Amino acid sequence: MAARRIAVLTSGGDAPGMNAAIRAVVRKGRDLGLEVLGVRYGFQGLMDGAFVTLDSRAVSGILRHGGTMLGTARAPAFKTAAGQRQALEQLAAHRIDGLVVIGGDGSQTGALALSRQGVPVVGVASTIDNDLAGFDITIGVDTALNTAVEAIDRLRDTATSHHRAFVVEVMGRGSGYLALAVGVAAGAEVVVLPEVPITLEEIVAALRAAYIQGKAHFILVLAEGAGWTAYTLSDAIQAADPGFESRPTVLGHVQRGGPPTVFDRLLGTRLGAATVEALAAGEAGFVVGLARGRVTRVPLAEACVRTSKVDPAFYELALVLAR
Ligand code: ADP
Ligand code: F6P
Repeated sequence: MAARRIAVLTSGGDAPGMNAAIRAVVRKGRDLGLEVLGVRYGFQGLMDGAFVTLDSRAVSGILRHGGTMLGTARAPAFKTAAGQRQALEQLAAHRIDGLVVIGGDGSQTGALALSRQGVPVVGVASTIDNDLAGFDITIGVDTALNTAVEAIDRLRDTATSHHRAFVVEVMGRGSGYLALAVGVAAGAEVVVLPEVPITLEEIVAALRAAYIQGKAHFILVLAEGAGWTAYTLSDAIQAADPGFESRPTVLGHVQRGGPPTVFDRLLGTRLGAATVEALAAGEAGFVVGLARGRVTRVPLAEACVRTSKVDPAFYELALVLAR
C-alpha cells in the first residue's frame, strides 16, 4: 500500500551526511505528496513518541553540517519485545504508514524487527564503519576517511621531526575497513586490523626494518577492535626498543564529526530521495545504499548482517607500498 504519512529517524552512531538524507526525505517526500514527520533520538524517541513536524523550512541549512538534526541514540530497550510494542503503538497513534531508518547494522536490525511486525520500513545505509552487507560505501565513510587522513598527515610532520613512531587508533568497531583505507591513503608503514592476525614480534620487526632503511618516522594505523589500544601497543613498541620512540594517538569521535564531504552530501541526498520514492510506490522491507556506483536495494535481513570489507589483496598492496 502506498504510504501517505511517513516518519524518519536517525539511529546508532551519527555519520556526516545523515542530514543530507533527512533533507532529501523531507523535500522529495513533499514533492511526492507525502506528509513527513521526524522522530527525535532514534528508536528511543520512537518508543517515547517524540515526533516533530518536518516541513521544507525545518531542513534548511542542514546539508553542510555533520551530526544529525534529529538527534540519535543507542536505545537498548528497543531490543526487547516490550520496547518494540511501545514503538508500534506510537506509530499507530500517529497514523504513520511508512518509516525511514537511517543508520548502521544495529539500526537496520531494529528496522528489520519492525518490518517483520508489519511496518513498511526502508533503511538508509549510514555508518562510518562501512560494515553493512551488500554496499560498497555507506554514508559518513568518505568524511571519516578524509578527517583521519588529515590528522595523520599532521602527525607525520611531528613524527618526522622527532624521528618517532606513532600508533594511531581509528574507529570501526569490529571492522578494519577504515584503518586499511586510512593507512593506504596516509602512507602508513603498518596497519593492524581485526581481520588480519599480526604478532607484536612482526610489528617490531617492521619497525626495526624501517629504522635500518633510514625512515625518519613510523606510522602504524591501528583499528579499534584489533586486540590492542593505541596506548598498550605504543608501550609495547617502546619496551621492545626498535629504534624509534613511540607515541599513541586515539582519533576517536573526531572522525565522526565535522562537515560532510561533497561525496557524503551527494550520497545522503540520493539515498534519502530513494526511500520516499519507494514508500510512495508501496515498496518497503529493504535498505538503500550504494553498490557498483548505483543506488541499490538490499533486503533488510541481508543488509543488517555485519560484514567486513577488508580486501586481502588490498591489504597485501598496503604492505608492499610501505616497504
Ligand atoms: P548502528 O546502527 O550504528 O550499528 P547500534 O548497533 O548501536 O548502532 O544500534 C542502534 C540501535 O539499533 C540500538 O541502540 C537499538 O535501539 C537498535 N538495535 C540494535 N540491535 C538490535 C536488535 N538486535 N534488535 C532490535 N533493535 C536493535
Ligand atoms: O558505529 C560507529 C562507531 O563510531 C564505531 O566506530 C565505534 O566503535 C562506536 O560507534 C562508538 O560508539 P559510541 O559513540 O557510542 O561511543
